[in-house]
Amino acid sequence: MTRIRTRVAIVGAGPAGLFLSHLLAGAGIESIVIDNRTREQIETTIRAGILEQGTVEVLDSIGEHSRARTVGHRHDGIELRFAGAGHRIDFQKHVGRSVWLYPQHEVLKDLLAARTAAGQDIRFGVTADHVEGADTATPVVFATDAEGQPLEIEADFVVGADGSRSVVRAAVTGSSTGGYFREYPFAWFGILCEAPPSADELIYSNSPDGFALISQRSDTVQRMYFQCDPEADPAALSEEQLWEELQKRVPGTTLKEGHIFQRDILRFRSFVAHELRHGRAALVGDAAHTVPPTGAKGMNLAIADVLVLNKALQALLLEGDERLLDEYAEVASQRIWKAQHFSWWMTSMLHVAPDASDFDRRRQLGELRTVVESEAGQTYLAEAYTGWPLAVGL
Ligand code: PHB
Repeated sequence: MTRIRTRVAIVGAGPAGLFLSHLLAGAGIESIVIDNRTREQIETTIRAGILEQGTVEVLDSIGEHSRARTVGHRHDGIELRFAGAGHRIDFQKHVGRSVWLYPQHEVLKDLLAARTAAGQDIRFGVTADHVEGADTATPVVFATDAEGQPLEIEADFVVGADGSRSVVRAAVTGSSTGGYFREYPFAWFGILCEAPPSADELIYSNSPDGFALISQRSDTVQRMYFQCDPEADPAALSEEQLWEELQKRVPGTTLKEGHIFQRDILRFRSFVAHELRHGRAALVGDAAHTVPPTGAKGMNLAIADVLVLNKALQALLLEGDERLLDEYAEVASQRIWKAQHFSWWMTSMLHVAPDASDFDRRRQLGELRTVVESEAGQTYLAEAYTGWPLAVGL
């Protein structure tokens, strides 16, 4: 058995964990990051792709390693499509802000490059089992290293940045599942295809056959999703059938088709842990909350949590001041619940629930018109989608 010591033990080398290690290092606070995946798995797992303007601005702090502005694409609006017509929500016009289409695994490549160059201790293939001593000044992460040997990391503070199946959560909430929870009766069928873009901006489409999202990755690769049954088998449909399903959900546009080389099903859940911090342990990112992907909030919310926790940890570890830590859950929760609402709202406004009545359908079209025909409606959507002001900066 090996026991090591650090100031902050960060479980999870996703955007939240890696970015926190960067901010702490900037304040001279040493940390160790562990993750049960390999570096290759982390850098290649396909996740969502929208960065709020504030997220891009704070990622600039990793310097030349951040390629969001050079490789990513700035988007100044989205299209809401329903009843056969498209309606552009112009972000610049309404809130003077933009978002960047830059996939999460590219953000992770940038963060890993930056942290590795800075000499950060990151251990891949290390599986955290549980955390003990959150109530003491020296909490310990019990883990198994890449060789299968027991590893204990003793720290001044433990951060659970270990995603929706967090093992740190139990040390914070008292159970691995304790939280506010909502499930949706549908999922997304996601594809990656070799084709030119079908549109310049993202299309969020409501149709009688359900929702579709037309997104992009590059000039030659596109990402698209359509609403499906959560139990659907991703292998069951031929490429031709997939194009048919997508095409009928975006009436009024013609998609540019091409070879579909990847398919996956994304489950829809909304979740917020009952507690975000207990003693010397705290949760950030998906370990603390999950949002359905319709609002494009997941990674942005993780970065916002980290900004709040970073300042609280600096006060605790550099000055012995616990006050900001005591406020962490309350400050982070305010943004988390705004994002929960926005993600739920976009989801419920755009998808067709399996049990939707004619009344529900017509009411939903009324809701969509309320948004696109109103300056206030468009401004609310633009403000939420591009991201509210951050409560705490770098
Ligand atoms: C994506 O491109 O993967 C994407 C974009 C916007 C979303 C969700 C996913 O709301």
